[in-house]
Amino acid sequence: MLKRLFGAAAVKKEAEAYPIYNELDRTRLPRHTAIIMDGNGRWAQRQGLLRTAGHKAGVDTLKRVLKTAIALDLEVLTVYAFSTENWKRPHTEVDFIMKLFSEYLDKEVREMNDDGVQIHFIGRIWELSPLLQKKIHEAEDLMKDNTGVKFIVAVNYGGQDEMTRAVQNIAKRVKDGEIDVDSINNEVIESSLDTAGLPPVDFMIRTSGDLRLSNFLLWQAAYAEFWFTDVNWPDFSPQHFMEALCDFTKRKRRFGGLKNE
Ligand code: IPE
Ligand code: IPE
Ligand code: MG
Repeated sequence: MLKRLFGAAAVKKEAEAYPIYNELDRTRLPRHTAIIMDGNGRWAQRQGLLRTAGHKAGVDTLKRVLKTAIALDLEVLTVYAFSTENWKRPHTEVDFIMKLFSEYLDKEVREMNDDGVQIHFIGRIWELSPLLQKKIHEAEDLMKDNTGVKFIVAVNYGGQDEMTRAVQNIAKRVKDGEIDVDSINNEVIESSLDTAGLPPVDFMIRTSGDLRLSNFLLWQAAYAEFWFTDVNWPDFSPQHFMEALCDFTKRKRRFGGLKNE
């Protein structure tokens, strides 16, 4: 507990060193921020490095961004780490990325726990290697009662796959007589998604210049605000993250209505 308090204070101190930290209206921060961490390969190739070097550098960015989220006491941070389509890549790259996930958990779980983070994975986790699944479940279990940032990692995740599984699940419940077709509504669907219990995505960030969702959180991002930057993920800094959040705090959201909020 003591360690947790010291850890959190150090994280906060680091973030406070950025002038923009004090400009942020903390009362208007998004409840749920989602990040498409894109551009690792391009970052590496531009420097004549292998794409894998970009993925390795991307892990360090993730650590810094999570620390910033902790310092700002964000409620939910969801990151897109590997899509259901990313298996199309060469075996060597996929294997390298899977190894990185494993190492990340080995190295970071203790510190995340000290920082009060509650980690949770979404996507087709049961298709990952048994060892990685074990580490994932152990990490989730260790941090399940933490009350800090909810850190959601999307691995082997696809929004369409998630919705397909939700439809299958609901159809089974109808077939078994548990629910009536007419009672299927937004809430029933939401509670059948991998993100059940989380607030909808308020803010969606994508690095590296591409302007698309690439099958990420299709349902949850219905009214998300978007932030695109040309900066590649390995170069995305706490400063960039806070600039994006600062922009979010100034936006007017209407949700289809007419209110100037
Ligand atoms: C994002 O970076 C990481 C993953 C998709 C796993 P990329 O590997 O997609 O990098 P670019 O977009 O090819 O530069
Ligand atoms: C989206 O990036 C997936 C992740 C960041 C994990 P991609 O690089 O796979 O997306 P596309 O292929 O450019 O749309
Ligand atoms: Mg990419």
